[in-house]
Amino acid sequence: MRRIGLKFALTVIASLAGAGPVMAGESAAVRNCTWCHGTNAQGYTVAPRLAGQRSLYLESQIRSFRDHVRDTPFSKQYMWNAVAALPPDVAHDLARYFAAIPPKPANDGDRNYAAKGRSIYMEGIPEANIAACYACHGPNAEGIRDIPRLGGLSHDYLKTRLQQWGQGYHSTAGSPMPLVARTLGPDEIEALTSYLSFLN
Ligand code: HEC
Ligand code: HEC
Repeated sequence: MRRIGLKFALTVIASLAGAGPVMAGESAAVRNCTWCHGTNAQGYTVAPRLAGQRSLYLESQIRSFRDHVRDTPFSKQYMWNAVAALPPDVAHDLARYFAAIPPKPANDGDRNYAAKGRSIYMEGIPEANIAACYACHGPNAEGIRDIPRLGGLSHDYLKTRLQQWGQGYHSTAGSPMPLVARTLGPDEIEALTSYLSFLN
């Protein structure tokens, strides 16, 4: 896990230090985000896709970065600064803007694991205390209210998130995810994140 972290960190330094792909016609406020989050906010290297994400979730994460609750290494390195001076009404508008962009699936998981991932997603593994993700994230992983859409997010991003909760990092105060993630082993994480990366 440590080694994966370092590999990601090097990728980020190499790719986020230069400008990511940028769309013409975006406002300056949007470009402040998409130069890392990619064309149309579809995600770029370690900066996740924001397109199609639930706006209440986007706003809750912006608050978590601002209040330094979400404390993963990339959050500290990139997002604490990016939102430090963002007024709440601009955060609200950006969240609604990104939520309305049709999301594209990353399709970067391992197809061989997708069926197993779907079964864990829908039913959990009761004998291992693994919760059905479906119960909170919805039947097609589209999310609800401030519970995020997972469908189509990149395999690497999802995997890092699930590993980081297990390592004691935080995201949102009162989140059930540290408890959920603690029950997942490497095989379950690989299966779930592969399945989710292919969902539209
Ligand atoms: C310098 C690069 C960079 C910039 C600029 C940037 N981001 Fe990010 N953003 C990231 C990275 C990297 C992550 C992943 C953090 C993690 O892994 O915990 C992230 C994560 C996020 C998340 C969490 C998404 C999720 O699914 O949990 C939101 C929301 C977000 N950024 C919104 C924004 C907004 C809004 C802006 C513009 C005001 C912005 N970002 C600008 C790099 C950036
Ligand atoms: C009891 C409800 C609940 C269950 C069950 C649940 N989640 Fe979550 N999940 C949440 C909430 C609430 C959040 C947002 C707060 C946060 O990020 O900590 C979240 C966030 C996430 C995120 C972050 C997405 C992003 O964009 O960064 C991932 C990944 C995730 N869950 C995966 C899973 C998986 C995989 C399962 C099944 C093994 C699962 N969740 C089960 C409630 C749940």
